[in-house]
Amino acid sequence: GNVFEIAVIPGDGIGPEVVAEAVKVLNFVTNGSENKVNLTEYKLGAEHWLQTGETLPDETLEALKKHDAILFGAVGAAPGDTRIPSGLIEREMLLKLRFSLDHYVNLRPSKLYPGIESPLANPGEIDFIVVREGTEGPYVGNGGSVRTGTEHEIATEVSINTAYGVERVVRDAFARASKRERKHVTLVHKHNVLVHAGHLWRRTVEAVASEYPEVTHDYLHVDAATIFMTTDPSRFDVIVTDNLFGDILTDQAGAITGGIGLSASGNINMDRTYPSMFEPVHGSAPDIAGQQKADPTAAILSVALMLDHLGLSAEARTVEQAVEKEITSRQELTDHRTTREIGDAIVSLLA
Ligand code: NAD
Ligand code: IPM
Ligand code: MN
Repeated sequence: GNVFEIAVIPGDGIGPEVVAEAVKVLNFVTNGSENKVNLTEYKLGAEHWLQTGETLPDETLEALKKHDAILFGAVGAAPGDTRIPSGLIEREMLLKLRFSLDHYVNLRPSKLYPGIESPLANPGEIDFIVVREGTEGPYVGNGGSVRTGTEHEIATEVSINTAYGVERVVRDAFARASKRERKHVTLVHKHNVLVHAGHLWRRTVEAVASEYPEVTHDYLHVDAATIFMTTDPSRFDVIVTDNLFGDILTDQAGAITGGIGLSASGNINMDRTYPSMFEPVHGSAPDIAGQQKADPTAAILSVALMLDHLGLSAEARTVEQAVEKEITSRQELTDHRTTREIGDAIVSLLA
């Protein structure tokens, strides 16, 4: 067996609450198996910044690089907290990790489990993955403001799209599609307006598609994609899209499949030059933090994605099956159970 070194970053708000349950599941599923995990906790986030002024020091980044994977909760200050500059931790810690560790595939699966009520009247069968680019787009901070605060202010936020970055994520989407049942890729962009980046994405999809004759593909402008995600989400199999469109679409994808509390993600470095990082799609949810109201399922399903990435697919399936069973038995119970009770229920189904 192997020993996997896992870094755990609980973060802020509901982060520590959901990560505690995810860790319980991870420990349980690896306990007694020939593969072991060794967990190291890192205190990062808004609270840590308030105490130390550090977002992500170089030594911490170097230490994190030595792990096999990272399990992350969420970061972000409460909206009214004026002590913390808005978005500081998100950019200087979370995005810095995604960029420094070259997490170019932000994998976000969406599935409507039996027993879960979708807010859609006719959801149909929903089972798709979003392959969101994770290192480029408008996220890189390439912009600025001049004449700031005057009526002549000019603010720019320039989206970066490199041929290298687009190609590797598009290739990943086609590779994933080729292993799925429906083998279909949908490129989501907005090339009617965002001509330059849009056409780079389009040309790249056409080029890569020619190497995957068994995979079909189509294209949607992002605005229309939100229509179909509401009216006909079963049309989607693999969506490939840029960093910002992917961010927005995956919150919507979470909502139609029973809530953001179920949506898992992996920030994956497919070349394995650095550790990948697994986290729920949701944020620190200050509105429910500290009350044991958060659903830990997204964090627990992120553990399953992590196990898969580490090559522990049997363990990953075990976790997914326990989650599926637990979800199916929920129905009206959901609102009344605590974070811990949901975690415990999933652990008891693992047993
Ligand atoms: P959010 O995802 O934190 O919350 C949106 C809504 O979903 C809230 O009503 C919240 O209560 C609910 N929700 C979220 N997770 C839930 C769960 N597990 N169970 C039940 N309900 C859940 O998004 P937001 O309010 O836009 O952002 C709050 C803070 O988190 C901000 O500072 C933001 O920047 C940050 N953020 C961080 C991450 C991350 O760390 N990956 C992701 C998104 C937002
Ligand atoms: C997410 C979050 C992050 C993003 C923020 C907090 C930087 O919304 O993980 O979806 O936009 O990627
Ligand atoms: Mn988001």
